[in-house]
Parts: sequence; C-alpha cells; structure tokens
Amino acid sequence: MNLIVGATGMLGGEICRLLRDRGEPVRALVRGTSNPEKLSHLQSLGADCVEGDLKDAATLEAACSGVTAVISTASSTISRQAGDSIESVDRQGQLNLVEAAERADVRQFILISFPHFDFDFPLQSAKRAVEDRLRLGRMTYTILQPTCFMEIWLGPALGFDFANAKAQIYGSGQNKISWISYRDVAKFATESLDNPAARNAVIELGGPESLSSLEVVKIFEQVHGRKFEIQHIPDEALLEQKNNASDPLQESFAALMLNYSAGSVIDMRETLQKFPVQLTSVKDYAQASI
Ligand SMILES: NC(=O)c1ccc[n+]([C@@H]2O[C@H](COP(=O)([O-])OP(=O)(O)OC[C@H]3O[C@@H](n4cnc5c(N)ncnc54)[C@H](OP(=O)(O)O)[C@@H]3O)[C@@H](O)[C@H]2O)c1
Repeated sequence: MNLIVGATGMLGGEICRLLRDRGEPVRALVRGTSNPEKLSHLQSLGADCVEGDLKDAATLEAACSGVTAVISTASSTISRQAGDSIESVDRQGQLNLVEAAERADVRQFILISFPHFDFDFPLQSAKRAVEDRLRLGRMTYTILQPTCFMEIWLGPALGFDFANAKAQIYGSGQNKISWISYRDVAKFATESLDNPAARNAVIELGGPESLSSLEVVKIFEQVHGRKFEIQHIPDEALLEQKNNASDPLQESFAALMLNYSAGSVIDMRETLQKFPVQLTSVKDYAQASI
C-alpha cells in the first residue's frame, strides 16, 4: 500500500492518478475540510481515502498502518486551514508523519522538498529539518528537490497572465531556471518507488532546459503570436518584502521570489539515465496554454 499525503493537492493528486493508472494501491490522506470535488475525484480513481491531519499524530498512526511507502507532498503554503502554518504543518506535521511511518515499519518515505537556497527563510528551514530527520531515521528515504513548477510560476496566479499577454517577472529576468512541470515531478515520485537509484538519495529535479524569464516570454510571444507586456518586480522590493514580512509565510513567499530572481539551474543528464522520464519543455507548456 502507498500512502499519499497531500493527495488533494495539485502534485499529490497527479501522483495518485499515475499510481492508480499502473494498478497500484493508493491510500489518500484527506481532511474533513478538503475540497469535496477533489475527494470524489480520488474516490473515482479507486483510492482508499482516510481522514487525517499532519497536526494530529494519532490520525497518522492509523493512516500509516500496513503501508509500504509514504509519499508526502503536503504543504501549508497554499492550502491552509485554521491552525495550519509552516511551523505546524511543514515542519512539525511532517516530522509527526515521519515518526508515525517509522513506527508502522514503512519501508520508504518520499518527501517533496526543493533545492538549497542561499538565504534562510522559514519554509526552507522546515523542509531541511524534515530532510535531516529522514537521513537519521530507519526508513529508506528519497528527497526530491524540484525547482520552480512551470504551472505555478508561469501561470496567472503569480502574474504570468498569458491569456492577456502580460508577464510579471521577479528581478531582472536574465537568470536561468530549469522550469519543471509538476506532472514530471509526479513521475519522478512514482518512479522512485523501489528504484535502487532512489534509495537514500537526494535528487534535484529540473526540466529539459534552463531558460531566463525573458527567454520564456519570447517563447510565449512566438506561440501566442502577440507581444507581452512585461512588469518587473525589482530585487530591492522583494528583499524589503522579505525583511519586513509580518509572518513566516509572507517571508517565505518573498524568499521564493528572490530565488526565482537569482535563477536555479539543474543538470538533469545523470538523473535521466536512472529515471525514464520524458521531460516537458516550456514550449510544450506554452503550446498547451493556447
Ligand atoms: N510550486 C513550486 O514551484 C514548488 C517547487 C518545489 C517544490 N514544491 C513543493 O511541492 C509540494 C506540493 O505542492 P502542491 O502544488 O501540490 O501543493 P497544494 O496543491 O497546495 O497541496 C497541498 C496539500 O497539502 C495538504 N495539507 C495542507 N495542510 C495539511 C495538514 N495539516 N494535514 C494534511 N494535509 C495537509 C492539502 O490538503 P487540503 O486539500 O486538505 O488542504 C493539500 O492536499 C509542496 O511540498 C511544495 O513545497 C513546489
């Protein structure tokens, strides 16, 4: 049995779909407050939905019972309920899950994290605390560290409004990022199950090429056949936002934007030899956005 924590989220939902397509058993951790449409979608896939919350260790014991592998994509950064925070979910909640999985003799724990960034911020320190705990534990661990998801950072929620030919760019837009599709991250997560290359491994993940944001805009302009209006958010404004943030979440968002501005290049050649994943390009994504 595979337990997916974060199953009602974008990435976790895709992982459930891929596993069920392969005919593998899926137990999905859901909450009473989870979106009912997402819940019924998981049920229609044939996932066994169990109620639980990362903040409630007792529910995790039950969820981990009889499980061989846990894949955790959960995070409080976007989908939050009362009491959810980076501290209670991304740090302590994930630590609760690792403890529960260990007690239930789970064989493998796959955590979705992100690559190392040079400056400290609460979400990074939470992710690293969970990674450190996994390294010290008894389970086989796989820590996947994808860089920016194209569907998020090149999507309207973060100001990349391709439908209206407007692009908000963090920083100069000249530093390169290995943009990755969350669907490919889901493939790496499922391909990590029982893959010897994923045993006790930390694997950075990126897309097939690294492109600056300005190069990305050019691709979209070609594909959409129109000029984009670009608005830059300068590093100074992001730094000010990070330094004056009113809470750890706002500080973390500003830090993630600064990371985008600085660029994040991942060389995938070695990883692709061990994982048979056909990576989605920014051009593929742009063409699908028409
Ligand atoms: N976006 C990027 O560019 C990027 C890059 C690298 C890594 N990542 C990582 O990718 C992961 C997945 O992202 P996503 O886009 O799939 O996130 P998402 O759509 O916001 O999903 C978050 C999931 O976490 C669950 N969750 C939140 N609090 C919980 C709690 N207290 N107990 C149990 N479940 C809880 C949510 O459940 P409910 O539906 O019940 O709220 C939801 O299923 C995150 O760990 C993120 O850090 C993202």
